[in-house]
Amino acid sequence: MTELSFPAGFRWGTATAAYQIEGAADEDGRTPSIWDTFSRTPGKVRNGDTGDIAADHYHRMREDVALMKDLGVTDYRFSVAWPRVQPTGRGPAAQKGLDFYRRLVDELQAADIRPVATLYHWDLPQELETADISGSAAGGGWPQRETAERFADYAALVASALGDRVATWTTLNEPWCAAFLGYASGVHAPGRTEPVASLRAAHHLNLAHGLAVRALRAALPASAEVSLTLNLHAVRALSDSDADQDAARRVDALGNRLFLDPVFHGRLPADLVADTAGLTDWAFVRDGDLEVTSAPVDSLGINYYSPTVVGAGTCDVPSPWPGSEAHVRFVPAPGPRTAMDWPVDADGLYELLVRLRDELPSVPLLVTENGAAYDDYADPSGAVHDPERVAYLHAHLAAVHRALADGVDVRGYFLWSLLDNFEWAYGYGKRFGIVHVDFASQRRTPKDSARWYADVIARGGLPS
Ligand code: FCB
Repeated sequence: MTELSFPAGFRWGTATAAYQIEGAADEDGRTPSIWDTFSRTPGKVRNGDTGDIAADHYHRMREDVALMKDLGVTDYRFSVAWPRVQPTGRGPAAQKGLDFYRRLVDELQAADIRPVATLYHWDLPQELETADISGSAAGGGWPQRETAERFADYAALVASALGDRVATWTTLNEPWCAAFLGYASGVHAPGRTEPVASLRAAHHLNLAHGLAVRALRAALPASAEVSLTLNLHAVRALSDSDADQDAARRVDALGNRLFLDPVFHGRLPADLVADTAGLTDWAFVRDGDLEVTSAPVDSLGINYYSPTVVGAGTCDVPSPWPGSEAHVRFVPAPGPRTAMDWPVDADGLYELLVRLRDELPSVPLLVTENGAAYDDYADPSGAVHDPERVAYLHAHLAAVHRALADGVDVRGYFLWSLLDNFEWAYGYGKRFGIVHVDFASQRRTPKDSARWYADVIARGGLPS
């Protein structure tokens, strides 16, 4: 019996990202990305893990699409590796790199799975980070405006190669992480700890998004769906006190509104500009930029894992909260946790979806990532039992269902992740897949959660 059924046409997907699964780091003309450099730098990634081989998806793509076909997914969200299709981030395309994605989308279409392509899931070509592209001594990368222009060229190049086969396009994945984990706290590539540069990076990522929307519209058929994925924070204040409320406002400004406002309202959050006045006057935001950043999109993707509880206090520096380090304290939320030590709280997803319904009533939503890491292992019979993941997924899909019932226009759900993979600074130690990967043999074993998800898709809803 189906307890909660989802609307017909609901998109049931899985998600991955290029650097986390592909491997083949030096093949077919691919040049290093900032994640190759970062992961090869001792001390940056647990256990010294790198994406050199990862889940070897570059060579096992057909097998991985077949796994998805068995699950019955309707959609697959993958990312294109910029340094694979445009080595060094400039100039002509690398045909072999593009051919890989052509084969992938052909294979998906043959399996009746809609491809959803993300153009940037954090693998900036290293040359664009290293290059002194603006004549500034400050280094390159997202703090430099030219990186946004390069990104638009790259978007046009990929769209002209795959635009006849891919209907849904996402410009950026989680620009908050790219800007603030990459350039402020430095726990992600390129590992810089420069608060001002991180604010510049955030703006240039928004600009890159807007420029890429224009480039995609010019290259794609009018029917194409153009989108953006944000990791919005479900922010909760510790109490009603003014100081705790102010801490929550600050985190909402930097974590959410710094992206939502430029993209959907063509403005910067005034309170954030005030909070960061000691760091920058935001003069790097030029006339006309906010018009570019707010080019209309067809949907918004949100990635959600757990809520963020804050109160007045201080946080460790370097932090990903420039300008607010002396005002915010992050408080562990109560309740069960995943192997990432992230609290399990599906209400946060519901809260975000309802907020977006109220703020952006005409924008269709996609949950482009949701899932959980647990310490999975294959038992002697080879089976992988992951009841906690099933419980996590069930609770979060129930939250999506509740949002749908409350009039939120959610069109789909993409489970993170299809495969165990390279979990950024945590390396291979954190397993998010519904398919287990034995990294020594590259053997794939669907976990119990994969069977469970296949059943949900087949019945179009959650079992009781
Ligand atoms: C998100 C990333 C994704 C994955 C999950 C666990 O922030 O977009 O690549 O690592 O977290």
